[in-house]
Amino acid sequence: MKHVIVTGGSKGLGLAIVKYLLSENYTVSTCSRERNSAIDELLSQYSTFQWFQVEIGNAEQTAEFVRKACTWANEAKLWGVINNAGIAKEGILATFPNIETDSLLQINLHGAIYLAREALRIFLSQNSAGRIINISSIIGSRGYTGLAAYSASKAGLDGLTRALARENGRRNITVNSIAPGYLDTEMSSTLSDKKREQIIRRTPMHRLGHVDDITPLVGFLLSDGASFITGQTITIDGGITN
Ligand SMILES: NC(=O)c1ccc[n+]([C@@H]2O[C@H](COP(=O)([O-])OP(=O)(O)OC[C@H]3O[C@@H](n4cnc5c(N)ncnc54)[C@H](OP(=O)(O)O)[C@@H]3O)[C@@H](O)[C@H]2O)c1
Repeated sequence: MKHVIVTGGSKGLGLAIVKYLLSENYTVSTCSRERNSAIDELLSQYSTFQWFQVEIGNAEQTAEFVRKACTWANEAKLWGVINNAGIAKEGILATFPNIETDSLLQINLHGAIYLAREALRIFLSQNSAGRIINISSIIGSRGYTGLAAYSASKAGLDGLTRALARENGRRNITVNSIAPGYLDTEMSSTLSDKKREQIIRRTPMHRLGHVDDITPLVGFLLSDGASFITGQTITIDGGITN
């Protein structure tokens, strides 16, 4: 059995990734700040699933999370980590409070660095191959009015992906980013009807993305078939950035 850690698995894309990986027979640990009914349901269904309350962005809590998750997973060795937990906050930078920038970068970027570090320490101690997948966004490469800090956090994640890929390739550890376009999740629920229609109009596939458009690529990047793919940011956006 292979153990995969997914952050932010209580809703949206993270929850879909957790369900997908459980259906593919991975042992899966996840975390979020709050436990909800989706987590309760999975805990009652799968003995191969565990949830931890963790504040991603806090280095000590992240180290403790990985330690506890790997102890729980027991014989299922750590194979992959998916940095999915993230937040988005909108506002033009001139009036965007610095404290909001700090918390966004702390969760979206520092949080991913802390988890990657813990995972790499385990891969090294196991002398094993492994996979790191960072959930980025097309906003990281394209930018978007009102999302400067979010855009910076995702561009930072893509840089992290490229650097870690170079640093760890020799150990058969791959590191990749997935950059979704606009997904129909709670995060995008604040989009006005006008913005939503504009995005759909500009998307060649003529719809918003669904979480299930993303999960198969996560599965593939964790598979043996993807062992020579590293340092990449792979876009899944229905063609909007063409
Ligand atoms: N939705 C989109 O259009 C879109 C597009 C491109 C990329 N993405 C990226 O995809 C990822 C998932 O987005 P989503 O739309 O699924 O978001 P979502 O529906 O808001 O879910 C976010 C998940 O992360 C958890 N989380 C947030 N902050 C956390 C923290 N500090 N510590 C622990 N857990 C935390 C949340 O649980 P709690 O709140 O209980 O902690 C929740 O489980 C994000 O990285 C996002 O940037 C989303």
